[in-house]
Amino acid sequence: MNVNLEIKSKVALLTINRPEALNALNSEVLNELEKHISDLEKKDLSEVQLVVLTGAGEKSFVAGADIKEMSQLSPESAEAFSIKGQALFNRIERLKVPVVGAINGFALGGGLELALSCDFLYFTENAKVGLPEVSLGLLPGFGGTYKLQQKIGTSRARELIFSGRMISADEALRIGLCIEVLPKAQFLETVFKKCESVLEKSPLAISKAKKSMLESEENFKVQALKAEALYFRDLFSSFDMKEGTSAFIDKRKPLFKGK
Ligand code: CAA
Repeated sequence: MNVNLEIKSKVALLTINRPEALNALNSEVLNELEKHISDLEKKDLSEVQLVVLTGAGEKSFVAGADIKEMSQLSPESAEAFSIKGQALFNRIERLKVPVVGAINGFALGGGLELALSCDFLYFTENAKVGLPEVSLGLLPGFGGTYKLQQKIGTSRARELIFSGRMISADEALRIGLCIEVLPKAQFLETVFKKCESVLEKSPLAISKAKKSMLESEENFKVQALKAEALYFRDLFSSFDMKEGTSAFIDKRKPLFKGK
């Protein structure tokens, strides 16, 4: 199984579990995640009051969409892939209970976009995050071009997306991407403890507050995500995208041409 769902004391723990590829999101992982999200959508507030999302292993939350799988996509299937990821992450964002991201290492590309679908994030000290898609001749295609700006503001988001650089947990804390950096030891236990103050409040009131906060930006998001998927598609007929993904697979530096 590539994604585990465990429910205990009204807290659902969702774990992306493909550590041999640093929990990269291939179709199988996305399909399993979608099935678990469907299950969670059906639960009522007396069954599940909060979701914690994390990655298996000590090294990575999720290192992005699966580059090997993506390198084979046609422009049409790339657009469909982008829309599929966006739609799934929007469903996570819209779950009626709080979704807390426990970011235990790398959260890159689609991994950071998944994290950005959470209500708020705790990072381990060793977490390293970014949107490195331009290093592959790509752009963030699972909602990152819109959601990172929303979270940290346009200048910081643009600098991170244009440079593709990874930032440390301390920098993420400074720019408001995560709310707290926690020790690696007993990380999940500490996150569960931190969530207690949410769990003792009215689940119904929290659910309505979340809905209200999401509704204020819904129209902008729909337009922005449509554009993102189209530009993502365009890049799949470029030299740069072929060069960038092949270079990752061949473990070499890419030579981009801007076409
Ligand atoms: N896709 C597929 N495989 C991946 C992967 C990914 N995103 N990230 C890591 N892996 C695989 C590696 O290929 C490697 O597999 P092999 O052992 O078979 O070679 C294994 O996971 C371990 O990775 P590394 O050996 O590279 O580990 P490292 O510690 O040297 O480096 C890393 C870690 C810096 C995270 C590096 O793996 C890396 O740069 N990964 C890619 C990150 C990235 O570019 N993510 C964005 C993807 S594009 C995207 O997400 C598009 C979108 O918005 C939809």
